[in-house]
Amino acid sequence: MIITDDIKYIGVNDYKIQLFEKLYPVKNGMAYNSYAILDEKTAIMDTVEEGFTEQWFGNMEKELQGRIPDYLVVQHMESDHSANIKNFMEKYPQAIVVASQKAFYMMKNFFGTDFPQRRIVAADGDMLSLGRHKLHFAAAPMVHWPEVMVTYDSTDKVLFSADGFGKFGTTDVEEDWIREGRRYYFGIVGKYGAQVQKMLQKVGTWDVAMICPLHGIVLSERMEYYMNLYDIWSKYQPEEDGVLLAYASVYGNTERGVFYLSEKLKEKGCKVCIKNLCGCDLSEAVAQAFRYNKLVIAAPTYNAGIFPPVREFITWLTERNFTNRKVGLMENGSWMPVAAEKMREKLEVCKKITFAEPFVKIMSALKEESREQIEQLAEHLAGE
Ligand code: FEO
Repeated sequence: MIITDDIKYIGVNDYKIQLFEKLYPVKNGMAYNSYAILDEKTAIMDTVEEGFTEQWFGNMEKELQGRIPDYLVVQHMESDHSANIKNFMEKYPQAIVVASQKAFYMMKNFFGTDFPQRRIVAADGDMLSLGRHKLHFAAAPMVHWPEVMVTYDSTDKVLFSADGFGKFGTTDVEEDWIREGRRYYFGIVGKYGAQVQKMLQKVGTWDVAMICPLHGIVLSERMEYYMNLYDIWSKYQPEEDGVLLAYASVYGNTERGVFYLSEKLKEKGCKVCIKNLCGCDLSEAVAQAFRYNKLVIAAPTYNAGIFPPVREFITWLTERNFTNRKVGLMENGSWMPVAAEKMREKLEVCKKITFAEPFVKIMSALKEESREQIEQLAEHLAGE
């Protein structure tokens, strides 16, 4: 596949994978992207996951048309991209691997060698000339591992962005980028907003016309749109005014409270999104929590604590630095409800969280008193 006259796509699509990183459901599969740059010297940008070795070599050979690769640029050492480094170096014994110092440390751990006689250590700001194409390397630590670097081809104005700007799904699935791009961002690198900001500052000094990530599709237009989304997300700013109602309900009584709140919020003109956390894809619920500026979490009390799916949801949020949001809480219990207080305690580690009053207490089933609390909460949330 042609990216530019000199840059070719040689990645693969994984149509069988169910859980990316054994954690994130990917109903539309996953792409492991790799690229070949053909110039006086040839460079291969990253490898692919281990199950696709032969297909990747086949794609590469087709594009190289008899030429031998001179360089393998390794931007990220996570195995979905690095699994074939050793295979590549054995197949092409004259090739040089180009990577950060930390990446070579990891190579030794993964493969038992860091290719001491066949390597170039790329430091932040270094440049590698392929002839017409100049590759500029920028360290991007923790986007998503510490060894990560991104690469800018100043000739074709292409940013090779490693995990950044990726999405779930194969390259041929037809869907808007944003939904899976957002779920991917907050799942994979959401914890590292400060580091993504640093990467964006470096990228901002380049004139980028195209982004070639290691997952998802090549982005060839609307650069400002994608850069702006990454800026918003990495600053933990909400994208939209709206309320996510995230809940679990054992017998339906908590759910009835959530639906009543939804009704009241909609009457007041609020945009509402509802996620039932029982058996759902938590990463999608987390992505929606970061999308909106307000969140209400509703949970039954269970084992004198928070009902487990809700507890897990809050853990996912706190691990990803959930911040800068208004949060309402709703609890249910039949003899000693404590879920709201436990949820508040768990959220204490989050910065710039303000709680919307009142915390709603449902004693077993929705009644006049709890309805009034829900109406007050809706008033509070709509009034912000
Ligand atoms: Fe796609 Fe962090 O690996």
